[in-house]
Amino acid sequence: MDESTPPALPKRIREAIERAREIASRAHCPYSQFHVGCVLIDASGRWFEGCNVENASYSVTLCAERVAASQAVAQGSRDWKEIIIVSPTRVSPCGTCRQFLFEFAPDMQVYLGDLTTDDVIGPLALRDFLPMAMTLQQTELPRRNS
Ligand code: THU
Repeated sequence: MDESTPPALPKRIREAIERAREIASRAHCPYSQFHVGCVLIDASGRWFEGCNVENASYSVTLCAERVAASQAVAQGSRDWKEIIIVSPTRVSPCGTCRQFLFEFAPDMQVYLGDLTTDDVIGPLALRDFLPMAMTLQQTELPRRNS
């Protein structure tokens, strides 16, 4: 393997991409036609799935990531290791989803895939998607000196 060849993806990630594609086909997205599917894997190896669910009142729409994360929480899982998101354009999670996921698993790894090719972005740390994230802890941000 030469230096420009990225390391092979673990089998579970390749399988999760396949599964996320199946879930994406179930998306309710009559307004955008943009199918997103997601698999969230926790530290015990449990999988939780989500697709985007749009609404005629557009802002009510749920992204695939928040659907998967909410299913996990409802089933007692919060220790999340990886999230695999597939979409037509290998889209990056929106700001709302970054905040929503960060609450539970700031160090989880993110993989971005698409609906047809083997091109995958990641692993990337969720923390790097949301610098200076909002929490209720005292904010440790650079201070003014004067
Ligand atoms: N969407 C997701 O489900 N996840 C993302 O990471 C980005 C966007 C959905 C929301 C909406 O239904 C459609 O994709 C177009 O924005």
